[in-house]
Amino acid sequence: MPTVVFVQPDGRREAHAAPAGHTVMDCAVDNGVAGIRAQCGGGCTCSTCHAVVDARWFAQVGAAQGDEHDILEFTPGREGHSRLTCQIVLRDDLDGLIVHLPSLSPG
Ligand code: FES
Repeated sequence: MPTVVFVQPDGRREAHAAPAGHTVMDCAVDNGVAGIRAQCGGGCTCSTCHAVVDARWFAQVGAAQGDEHDILEFTPGREGHSRLTCQIVLRDDLDGLIVHLPSLSPG
């Protein structure tokens, strides 16, 4: 089961496991990770699940495409490695994935 490491703006880290096939957002919500509100429930319409993928993992995770890319254009705190975590589906090869929660969260 892949583990995701969530890094808060103050540097605090917490690691949580979730089954492959679940999203990073599912993992965050199921474990009460602060900063991931996921108001649309994974519908790729709210951007309240925004996080920045650690540079070491970005190539493996991949860049946002389509609607996700368009929503990120208007997401406060967006950075080059930003993703909507509801659109990152966990795989076994993403075990240890590190994502950073932005200090500026929308809405
Ligand atoms: S949960 Fe709304 S965009 Fe990801």
